[in-house]
Amino acid sequence: MHLSHLRLRDFRNYARLDVDFTPGFHLLLGDNAQGKTNILEAIYLMATLRSFRGVGSAQMIRHGAKGYFVGGNVLGRGDHEIKMFWSASERKLSLNNQPVKKLADYFGALRTVVFCTEDLQLVKGAARSRRRFLDLLLAQTNPVYLSLLQRYMRAVRARNALLKQRSGDEAALDSFSAEMVKLGNEIISARRELIPKFSPLARLAYRRISNDAEELRIEYAPSVKNDFAVELAQSRGRERTYRSTLVGPHRDDLQLLLNEKSASQFGSEGQKRSLAIALKMAQAEFLAGIHGSPPILLIDDVMGELDLKRRSGFLPLLEAARKTSGQVFMTATEENWPRELGKDLQKWNVQSGTLARA
Ligand SMILES: Nc1ncnc2c1ncn2[C@@H]1O[C@H](COP(=O)(O)OP(=O)(O)OP(=O)(O)O)[C@@H](O)[C@H]1O
Ligand SMILES: [Mg+2]
Repeated sequence: MHLSHLRLRDFRNYARLDVDFTPGFHLLLGDNAQGKTNILEAIYLMATLRSFRGVGSAQMIRHGAKGYFVGGNVLGRGDHEIKMFWSASERKLSLNNQPVKKLADYFGALRTVVFCTEDLQLVKGAARSRRRFLDLLLAQTNPVYLSLLQRYMRAVRARNALLKQRSGDEAALDSFSAEMVKLGNEIISARRELIPKFSPLARLAYRRISNDAEELRIEYAPSVKNDFAVELAQSRGRERTYRSTLVGPHRDDLQLLLNEKSASQFGSEGQKRSLAIALKMAQAEFLAGIHGSPPILLIDDVMGELDLKRRSGFLPLLEAARKTSGQVFMTATEENWPRELGKDLQKWNVQSGTLARA
């Protein structure tokens, strides 16, 4: 799979951009604040409908403009044309010139994995970051997962709204509880099945970039221990105090253990960084295994932060992308780009919202 064309209008510091990309390794070079990361953000946005910087769409509209347009052509098993437009009053998303009605139909068109500084939140941050990671991985591999998750979250929000009202409507609460349990159990089993498949890949990736230093183990830490319906009913007393739904997969977490010790509590900065990267490498390998071709890799800055040894842990992934006509986009400044990775690469100069072949 590769992105053959990218078109931006009023996106971040790009007024207009039209650029063709071949498969292979693309290095985006430029000084700070020129728009390197913005390119990766746009590609990731098409793939996931979110920014990896964790910001809303309004922030991505070029200052002074009304809305942004991001579009692209993806060549893989089939050809896909993606168009998205976002403004405060209008949102449009189309695939092959048809408006997208079900997200499940859309999500397979473009698959990416991003490596960025925000990844550290996977290890250091709250459980929400790790749930997002799991959910994205499941959305990228299981066509029904996203709609399941959306319906579940709708039921949680409706139930929370009821819990916030003083005069609780018990019958309505019960019906949302039943809905949550039905959908939630499916989410829990999807997550439970994923971990044992994903975990060995993450363990190998961690070994590769940490030189066998410690053993990584990932464990699912579900909010529901046994029976969702029973535990939800048992939490009713506490719910009255907190006025929110306290049990369910919206409170799940993943435990990341290095030599059986919590990485977030006991890991060093370097270990945490290696672990975050290992999780992303495993995501890429997992997707490649399931879909038969690797996702597009978007590598933002992280190379500059890694020492030579850990950087070389990336080589197998880059090599696999090369062999299968995949695609890699990597940003760097002229001083810190990892020259040892740079066999047959295509260099681009990024300058104040323009892109030109170097
Ligand atoms: N909504 C926006 N409208 C216009 N310009 C924006 C907007 N958001 C960000 N920018 C501009 O985009 C530039 C930053 O782009 P980006 O983050 O891609 O830089 P970069 O080349 O990756 O830099 P670094 O090497 O520091 O990471 C800045 O000049 C910033 O002012
Ligand atoms: Mg950047």
